Amino acid sequence: MNVLGVNAVFHDPAAALVVDGEIVAAAEEERFSRRKHGKPPVAFSTWELPERAIAFCLAQADLHPDDVDLIAYSYDPDLAPAFDGATLAEGDWEGRRTLFVQRAPHFLATLGFDPGRVRFVSHHVAHAASAHLASPYATSAVLVADGRGERASSLLGRYDADGRLETLAVQELPHSLGLLYEELTAHLGFRRSSDEYKVMAMASYGMPRHVHRLARLVHVTGDGGFRTEPVDWTEFAPALSAGGDGWTREHADLAASVQHTAEGVLLELARWLHAHAGERRLTMAGGVALNCVANGRLLREGPFDDIWVQPAAGDSGTALGAALQIAADAGEPRAPMVTAALGRSWDDGELAAWLDGAGAAYERPDDIAVLVAQVLAADGVVAWFEGRSEFGPRGLGHRSLLADPRRAANLERLNNIKGREPFRPVAPMVLEEHAPAIFTGRHPSPHMLFVHEVAEAWRMRIPAVVHVDGTARVQTVDPHSEPLIARMLEAFRRLTGVPVVINTSLNTAGRPMVDDPRDAMECFGSAPIDLLAIGPFVVHRNRPPAAKHPATLERVA
Ligand SMILES: [Fe+2]
Repeated sequence: MNVLGVNAVFHDPAAALVVDGEIVAAAEEERFSRRKHGKPPVAFSTWELPERAIAFCLAQADLHPDDVDLIAYSYDPDLAPAFDGATLAEGDWEGRRTLFVQRAPHFLATLGFDPGRVRFVSHHVAHAASAHLASPYATSAVLVADGRGERASSLLGRYDADGRLETLAVQELPHSLGLLYEELTAHLGFRRSSDEYKVMAMASYGMPRHVHRLARLVHVTGDGGFRTEPVDWTEFAPALSAGGDGWTREHADLAASVQHTAEGVLLELARWLHAHAGERRLTMAGGVALNCVANGRLLREGPFDDIWVQPAAGDSGTALGAALQIAADAGEPRAPMVTAALGRSWDDGELAAWLDGAGAAYERPDDIAVLVAQVLAADGVVAWFEGRSEFGPRGLGHRSLLADPRRAANLERLNNIKGREPFRPVAPMVLEEHAPAIFTGRHPSPHMLFVHEVAEAWRMRIPAVVHVDGTARVQTVDPHSEPLIARMLEAFRRLTGVPVVINTSLNTAGRPMVDDPRDAMECFGSAPIDLLAIGPFVVHRNRPPAAKHPATLERVA
């Protein structure tokens, strides 16, 4: 059975394809449209479909719209506020969103799909399914927390071995951990429902000295729910202008206080869920589950033996979750998600054609893993484009920017290349077998979703990836699932004695992650990156182009 998942409602529009229970493809529309987050999260953009992501998913399995048995749409209009017919001037945006979702089958028909095959899946069930049904666990407790779905902002439940979800608690709006964090994000001058991770990074610079005052406004209710009462942020720190310029200790303290408070609520929710679900393992999704600091604390201090977080925990992942849930409901077999690399790729011939088309002076080294390790060890920055692009917000070694973690200055250097705020950390990738000696915390951690402590002895050795609080957001690399990256890391270890490389996603300021070879070349061409490694080929920045046609040169001479 072919099930296409679609997320189109708020932001991060995306598509995913599940064939006979297997995840075949998943991609975010922004990677094709080059518009960060795909579209603005407003009701009147709800009709827009991730057309290019859908087309890619179908092409990946050589399907036509007629071949799709069911289309899983990750929002259920029956659960949402109804459209009461108010005029535009009265601004019934919620109802208008519902109306557009109700019409989604007709919008899908314009792409050639049978509108009778569309199935609506509750937003939070889609998140929950993206967590449990993609996880390696037979059964699990599931925790979803985000800004909002139809009417709720969290779901706690339990999945049985047949892929059926039992909902144990939901928290209705307006109470929302995601919206609370979004509001703070806006107060600090960053973009809401986009830049929340900047607040998380800023929190590390502050002290959570407002937690007692915040506890009156933000707290659990003892029944699997919580309250987030309106906060007058100016009581804690003045609003910042766009870009967060001029932030002070006050702002960092506020960020730390909200981060700490949110972690506390999540811990209490996890304890409640553990007591009521009768499960030892937790799966998580929803935008809040991208908070890797909170995830690390949940694992350390929470009641569950282990946690699996959907790498595309934000709304894009609901495309995948909706498809997985509809497939499970139809009795399809279940296959865990073994990689986040579910996007586009090109073979060697196609990559060569792209490079030729750009007039790039490229070469094919004997071993690209060794060459890249040498460039990194000589303090070069490498754009690394290998295999299928990743689903979710992290570059995990397929669309990555790499550098040497031994040099502290490489943090600022990469933040400059990427046009990011100087307080933002960069993350380490590490060979799995060496990870426990260097980083405490969850191992393996292939999706960079947990914060780890860096062992004291290693902090001076890899200063570029050690955050101000002594932590790092680690990606562990398994040589069986990622042999090329593992060989590069091993080559770097042989050269330097350090099995760690800086890995940050391959993009520059405000742009979506690089997806196709043109994006890679544009990124390489517009930033001080020393080497582009693309498939088996490399392009050096500072090497004069080889004389490909000596006869031509002679004539010129
Ligand atoms: Fe969501």
